Amino acid sequence: MVRMIICVCRGLNTSKVSDAIAAGARSPRAVHSHYQTTINCGKCCETVCGMIREQAGPNVSEGQDMLAAAE
Ligand code: FES
Repeated sequence: MVRMIICVCRGLNTSKVSDAIAAGARSPRAVHSHYQTTINCGKCCETVCGMIREQAGPNVSEGQDMLAAAE
């Protein structure tokens, strides 16, 4: 698998996001929490949600995280 940076703000690449999802993260906030970080600009949320849908199915709390990122 090619590792690409998903979250520029926190340095999370595809491998790290995938590992967090495998460990049970089901939202961008949960992925960040897995690495003791928080959402900053929120630009990674859409991509993270897409990865969650691919790996874990459609139960993603996208709306809440996107709102939280904008606050
Ligand atoms: S790119 Fe992930 S919080 Fe900014």
